[in-house]
Amino acid sequence: MVVIDLKNKNALITGASRGIGAAIAYKLAQAGANVVINYNQNQQPASELANKIKSDFNITPLLFKANISNLQEVKQMKEFIHSNLGKIDILINNTGINKDKLLRNLTDEEWLDVINVNLNGVFYVTREFIGDMIEKRYGRIINISSIVALSGSAGQTNYCASKAGIIGFSKALAREYAKRNITVNVVAPGYIETDMTNKLPEKIKESIINSIPLGRTGKPEDVANLVVFLASDLASYITGEVINISGGLYM
Ligand SMILES: NC(=O)c1ccc[n+]([C@@H]2O[C@H](COP(=O)([O-])OP(=O)(O)OC[C@H]3O[C@@H](n4cnc5c(N)ncnc54)[C@H](OP(=O)(O)O)[C@@H]3O)[C@@H](O)[C@H]2O)c1
Repeated sequence: MVVIDLKNKNALITGASRGIGAAIAYKLAQAGANVVINYNQNQQPASELANKIKSDFNITPLLFKANISNLQEVKQMKEFIHSNLGKIDILINNTGINKDKLLRNLTDEEWLDVINVNLNGVFYVTREFIGDMIEKRYGRIINISSIVALSGSAGQTNYCASKAGIIGFSKALAREYAKRNITVNVVAPGYIETDMTNKLPEKIKESIINSIPLGRTGKPEDVANLVVFLASDLASYITGEVINISGGLYM
């Protein structure tokens, strides 16, 4: 039997109060990791997740409210984690937002908000924690992009640009730190059932679902299973990859 054991590993998951991030935090804790749950606004679901992890696995997660597009808040999160847990081994850059509109109507603010959270946020968090992994000569960085970074998606120029940026960023980073035993990979989900996809108009949902070869939408747990694998020793020879998880929607 293959067992994934992440005991004594410290993992930070950004945007882990809900959706995919929450499932990743839960499954990393299930594998034994000490998890840090970052969130931006919704403390209640973040606390509920922490309580569930504590009661199911006897691991007490740290919670930290930080807007990852604000460098000062990211630095405060680093100080808090270093004082209360120690250095990070596993970083999951999961946070992402979308503000969809056709390009001619897209405002500067909608462009910048998405780039600032989805791309600049990944830069800030990764730069602040890469030193932990360099010192440990061990690290796993998993960045959550999207299949639309590869396929494009009308009404999502800002989102697609940010998610494609994550892919270039990750490949460059994988080359920079491979010799330090730090792997960097990208997970690109398709249609996963979360608040982000819930708000899509019914007609669009229906047409996407009809084009998924496996005939169903993805669950946050589907993505979390892949992330746990990439965070484990089973994936120690995988770096610089983009792995789609979309039920065949993109192949
Ligand atoms: N769902 C999909 O079908 C799908 C497909 C492809 C890729 N993705 C990507 O997967 C990732 C997770 O998506 P999801 O669907 O789980 O999203 P979601 O349900 O909307 O959850 C977003 C999470 O990000 C947090 N967050 C938002 N802005 C933040 C900020 N400025 N700083 C820190 N945290 C922030 C939220 O915290 P609060 O609760 O505090 O607001 C929440 O925990 C995203 O990167 C998304 O782009 C999703």
